[in-house]
Amino acid sequence: MNRTPLVAGNWKMHKTIAEAEEYIQALLPRVSDVDGVEVGICPSYLSLQPLVDSTRGSRVAIYAQNMHEAEHGAYTGEVSAPMLVEVDVHGVVLGHSERRQYFGETDRALAAKVPAALAAGLQPILCVGETEDEREAGDTERKLRHQVQEALARAPDDRIPDVVIAYEPIWAIGTGIVATPDQAQEAIAFVRALVAGRWPEQSERVRILYGGSVKPEGAGDLIAQPDIDGFLVGGASLDPEAFAAIVRAAVPAP
Ligand code: PGA
Repeated sequence: MNRTPLVAGNWKMHKTIAEAEEYIQALLPRVSDVDGVEVGICPSYLSLQPLVDSTRGSRVAIYAQNMHEAEHGAYTGEVSAPMLVEVDVHGVVLGHSERRQYFGETDRALAAKVPAALAAGLQPILCVGETEDEREAGDTERKLRHQVQEALARAPDDRIPDVVIAYEPIWAIGTGIVATPDQAQEAIAFVRALVAGRWPEQSERVRILYGGSVKPEGAGDLIAQPDIDGFLVGGASLDPEAFAAIVRAAVPAP
């Protein structure tokens, strides 16, 4: 099964609008000739509209970092799927471990967010992953099973191939510790098997990314694994040169 790799840069709470624009002008020429890889940038809400405008017609798609599951309502500080669609963003990161850890994101809310994003026409990038303690206790598979099954519980069968999953072990996020290619492959193959448990035919079409301290060096060895379909990149995505190098590493061999 040929799955088009996706490399998405999650800027988290970095870059003002002016900084975001400057970055995009540096990134676009560096990825304009890269074929066979989808490229995403996930800036702050405020930079979504400016970056959608300045990347139009390019190979860079713009994703939000979160959204609320309701279409509208009394949810101070939140942003809904129709609001993201209005500014023409391509997709949305859901369930990032920082949202889960600092802002009370739950699997239950994600079970509503994933179908809400799909229904609105947004591509969800659903993040899952275990903590260091869970890995050491041998609980990685139990944690992944819970997160994947809960979050996809209400996703419509025919839209499963539109969901992107990012396996991001929490011990690797922002720590400089990268999962080994074998560790990442093993966990990602397990995630794919979980999807196959309910959607045997679609599971081969679902893209599953690795995230956690991805850098240009090492990206090639990760993407060479059979089940790793790209990257969700945090820190290294803040520099257009480093991010473009990771994008280039994900180009499929001819
Ligand atoms: P990192 O972040 O690349 O800085 O580890 C990854 C992420 O949180 O998506």
